[in-house]
Amino acid sequence: MLAEIGKDISKARELLQRGLAVAIPTETVYGLAANALDPNAVLQIFEIKNRPQFDPLIVHGASRERLSNYVTAFPDWAVKLADALWPGPLTLVLPKAKSIPDLVTSGMDTVAIRVPNHPMTLDLLSQLDFPLAAPSANPFGYVSPTSAKHVMMQLGEKIPYILDGGECAVGVESTIVGEVEGRVIVLRLGGVSVEEVEALIGKVEVLTESLPNAVIPGSLTSHYAPRTPLVVGPIEFDKYKRSLIGALRFSVESEKLHPSQQVVLSRAGDLREAAKNLFAAMRQLDRQGAKVIFAEEFPEEGLGRAINDRLRRAATQ
Ligand code: TXA
Ligand code: MG
Repeated sequence: MLAEIGKDISKARELLQRGLAVAIPTETVYGLAANALDPNAVLQIFEIKNRPQFDPLIVHGASRERLSNYVTAFPDWAVKLADALWPGPLTLVLPKAKSIPDLVTSGMDTVAIRVPNHPMTLDLLSQLDFPLAAPSANPFGYVSPTSAKHVMMQLGEKIPYILDGGECAVGVESTIVGEVEGRVIVLRLGGVSVEEVEALIGKVEVLTESLPNAVIPGSLTSHYAPRTPLVVGPIEFDKYKRSLIGALRFSVESEKLHPSQQVVLSRAGDLREAAKNLFAAMRQLDRQGAKVIFAEEFPEEGLGRAINDRLRRAATQ
């Protein structure tokens, strides 16, 4: 059976209440959601995604007040960020309450929480008396979905319903912020820029690939990967036949390739627009039959940092 795609919030609600997993829209990427308080429901997420159980999930709620029930502390820095940025592409990692099953947090004593900024999903969440655990709705390791159609193509045979909320406005996953040994750290770059975080709570550290993976179990380097090999940096014309090259560009095409071999993320050179279009572009290039994709490096500022992060992860094989 293939999933149904629709805009019926009560249908999504009923399926979730029955303990099933449903794809839901958020402003970042589509999520594969299930009752976060029900281990059997959560288990389906791991099975459907083929996701290892050492990779914990984000718990989504309708408001800070509701999510406060699932953490044992809400420190000052977290209150400031939540007040300013929720609903929005920000996830906070805080000490977990007992009601959250260990399966959700992979046995860790912290839980990742966020209020997503999508009207349909906020409506859905406010109608439920449980929060939703939801990773991105893609098979583990592949590019995240930014439209209902993307979800359909990859998980359509495994889920009953995809709540269609249109194209995701932000297009990269949420920024994850947590506290490690008393220091506030950006654990994953995402839809809120480091500059925005720092404007609210002062200087923060950013977890980079050189730091150990232990702090954030899901930050495997090979992630978000298209099937076609992807290289970050200038196009190596001497190494490949031109017709075999695909190019992911920021604002202008390479003059040396045919326009059909390339995707430009933002003609205006706007990093937000580029982030929004990133994953769909990776999918498009993946389908075009190129033997290698060259992705330009983006400016290391604003959402450019999240874009470079995703490109580097996609490039590591
Ligand atoms: O934008 C998003 O965050 C999307 C939408 C659906 O909300 N979700 C998403 O989920 O990106 P997922 O599962 O693809 O990524 C969640 C990340 C994982 O890398 C995981 O390791 C990390 O959050 N995470 C979850 N709980 C954590 C915790 N307690 N401590 C540290 N990292 C945690
Ligand atoms: Mg993911």
